[in-house]
Amino acid sequence: MSHTSPIHAAFDATSTPTDVGPDQKLTTFDATSAAAAVVADLNLAVSDAISTPVAVVADLSLAVSDATSAAADVNAGLLHTAFNAAASTPVAVGADLIRTAFDATSTAADVVTGLNLAGLRAVVTGATSGLGRETARALASAGADVTLAVRNTAAGKGVADAIATSTGNRAVRAAHLELADLATVARFTASWDGPLHLLINNAGVMRPTLGRTPQGWELQFATNHLGHFTLALGLHDALTAGANDRGTARIVAVTSGAHMYSSVVFDDIHFTRRAYDPQLAYGQSKTANSLFAVEATRRWSADGIVANAVNPGGVSTGLQRDFTQDMKDHLDRLEAAGVFAYKTIEQGAATTLVAATAPEFAHNGGHYLDDGNEAATVPDDVDLAGNSHAVKRWARDGATARRLWEVSLDLIRQP
Ligand SMILES: NC(=O)c1ccc[n+]([C@@H]2O[C@H](COP(=O)([O-])OP(=O)(O)OC[C@H]3O[C@@H](n4cnc5c(N)ncnc54)[C@H](OP(=O)(O)O)[C@@H]3O)[C@@H](O)[C@H]2O)c1
Repeated sequence: MSHTSPIHAAFDATSTPTDVGPDQKLTTFDATSAAAAVVADLNLAVSDAISTPVAVVADLSLAVSDATSAAADVNAGLLHTAFNAAASTPVAVGADLIRTAFDATSTAADVVTGLNLAGLRAVVTGATSGLGRETARALASAGADVTLAVRNTAAGKGVADAIATSTGNRAVRAAHLELADLATVARFTASWDGPLHLLINNAGVMRPTLGRTPQGWELQFATNHLGHFTLALGLHDALTAGANDRGTARIVAVTSGAHMYSSVVFDDIHFTRRAYDPQLAYGQSKTANSLFAVEATRRWSADGIVANAVNPGGVSTGLQRDFTQDMKDHLDRLEAAGVFAYKTIEQGAATTLVAATAPEFAHNGGHYLDDGNEAATVPDDVDLAGNSHAVKRWARDGATARRLWEVSLDLIRQP
């Protein structure tokens, strides 16, 4: 299957109609998956925000009221992933978006069932826990050769052994990678041998307090974006070799609905002139993940490499380890009351695996996926609560993506 012509057309947030290739599947899941999709909408607003309990309540109550209208919209067959908030309407909807056979309820196993990934070499960052571990397990279960790129090597080896045992696939190993320390990233890429077909930039941190690398970089931006940016640059030649091998090489950048909290603030990326706000810092780093996919595809699609960004939805993982007890208790009460439900880890990893394996995205990059499908692009001033399955324009803008690439290069090349 080939989607060679739409690749370049994918870079512009407004150009979705031309992204859709002739053999992309249209799902019939919309009407039946509306309830789950709406629940996932709530999850994301809750779990991905470093919010006070009051802010969480506000997110939820907004999301609940949106959910009512969204369900009606979906049942009417109008929208798939984009929900209308009262005050804002997605700009790209329906038939323009790339659809797959998967939705919010799909699991990692659903996506890889029937696939034979023998010969495919994959790297998954942050595979010691949560979504990364499940992603690696699913890839291994389909026969891929999987390297877990982890900062805690002992934990990584334990996970690799467990995956090998449970899947019967011995081609699973752990290698050291500390994304906030570019020397370890350089060691990882220098020691990589041979082609690489799939790079999953999954690792991430969400911190309530300001942290800095020795260079003075804000830690969420440094870890979530700069570390992965450096990793991808270092693996570019291996990915090109992988594309020569199998016809394509893919990068998956795990972003978040939290990208809606902040654009990349080029004037003060590292919070040296403004008060630190952890939510804005996390959001900025996740916007950078999406922009990376846009620009990597523009630069590297001629080499056979495409990159897509993925929002996994709200999932209870190690990511929320720094939530205060008050916030956890509050969320527990809301969940017990049936106000929202998290996605399972198996469901959370599914969209990553769609970007990694689905034919619709084999040669087609620069997109933002949510619940297994391409998300609608919405204006920058909409609220997250009513649009948490969409992507803001600032996370897909081609000029901004190019600027971020250059700024990131300047940063990582400094001595
Ligand atoms: N869970 C959600 O609700 C949600 C929603 C939207 C997006 N996401 C995104 O999903 C991705 C996976 O998160 P998760 O939910 O699975 O969280 P998780 O369970 O905390 O997993 C995060 C992984 O990243 C690793 N990591 C953190 N900092 C690192 C560093 N400096 N160098 C190398 N590895 C590092 C962690 O390693 P250690 O085990 O050593 O800490 C862990 O393996 C993240 O990018 C996150 O932003 C999650």
